[in-house]
Amino acid sequence: MDHPTKTKERKMEHIEICLRKNVQFLKSAGFEDVEFVHCAIPDINFDEVTLEINLFGKRLKAPIIIAAMTGGTRKGGEINAFLASLAEEFEIGIGVGSQRAAIEDASMRETFSVVRKKAPTTLKIANIGAPQLVKGYGVKELEEIVSMVEADILAVHLNSLQEAIQPEGETTFRGVLNRLKQITEAIDVPVMVKETGCGVALEEAILLEEAGVKAIDVGGAGGTSWSAVEHFRRRSKDQLGKTFWDWGIPTVASTVEVASATSLKVVATGGVRSGVHVAKAIAVGANAAGIAHPFLEPAYRGDYQKGRSLTEKLVRELKVTMFLTGSRNVDDLKRTRVIITGRTAEWLRLRGVDVALFARGERPYPKGLNKPKAS
Ligand SMILES: Cc1cc2nc3c(=O)[nH]c(=O)nc-3n(C[C@H](O)[C@H](O)[C@H](O)COP(=O)(O)O)c2cc1C
Repeated sequence: MDHPTKTKERKMEHIEICLRKNVQFLKSAGFEDVEFVHCAIPDINFDEVTLEINLFGKRLKAPIIIAAMTGGTRKGGEINAFLASLAEEFEIGIGVGSQRAAIEDASMRETFSVVRKKAPTTLKIANIGAPQLVKGYGVKELEEIVSMVEADILAVHLNSLQEAIQPEGETTFRGVLNRLKQITEAIDVPVMVKETGCGVALEEAILLEEAGVKAIDVGGAGGTSWSAVEHFRRRSKDQLGKTFWDWGIPTVASTVEVASATSLKVVATGGVRSGVHVAKAIAVGANAAGIAHPFLEPAYRGDYQKGRSLTEKLVRELKVTMFLTGSRNVDDLKRTRVIITGRTAEWLRLRGVDVALFARGERPYPKGLNKPKAS
């Protein structure tokens, strides 16, 4: 196991690289391949449109989650406090970064627990890496992680690519499914599995559902690339970070795969950059969308007004999109007509998904549970 100081240094390096370098995927998340069929006669007033959802036992004002980023350092604690205040004000969800640092060094707990103080009512998501799970974190540690932020749900992140190219990476993944099965039975909160940029395919989603996981954050390709971050961190001769910069299942394709094969809750994270993207993610099968990188800069600078403007813009764009598709609420949005073309359509067709259904306002959800309710 890394020395706690090393974990902290690495976390700060990640944040600084994300702010100073372009670490976005070169390929896209696929949102440009999804187009709404405009509804010329929406038959609703703009003011009637509601963005509210219920997710993991919490009511959110909009289906948006500030995705896991940080904690474990003094600066990380400040960023978490900022993001938690924003999440509480806008009644959206918030995830914290990996809490491994707080298990290794108890003095770092405050940098995570600040989230429960600043966001006492809204949805909070605890976070730990799969390698920690495999390497021995038991129920005691996991309960500690959950209670630290009074989390409604525990996210277990998968980051095999990042671990494989990090010099100090922890590549112990054997037995992860079995460990997930054990913990889903043993802990009190639901478990969500979260990729961090490579996406989740339908075959693995099915296994995760069988293991008792309740939700998947697809963490697809198209947004922040961890391989790119590692490239700038190491600049190694082997150039592994560069080679794998664009590796992964794009967010839109992954969202459709997971939603079409399971009845799990789906969070679409990875390259979500506008309220229109949030709407598209929901229209292709997500229950909510996660956004990380765009929130980092205002949080790092402590520019609360900028954080507020960003969130207001996301919410407004989502609301306008819903109005223009005649969607009174998020359930309507889930069955609105969308055309999926280009690379995403090709991908999905090859993976056995009938994309034509979306164009007619139907959905390829054989298991039915994720299917939007009929009005
Ligand atoms: C600085 C930074 C740190 C992150 N740390 C974590 C982490 O500790 N745990 C995790 O599950 N995801 C972590 N992520 C991944 C994000 O939650 C998200 O899945 C990813 O950045 C894609 O979203 P984006 O394109 O909106 O940035 C981190 C992202 C950033 C930018």
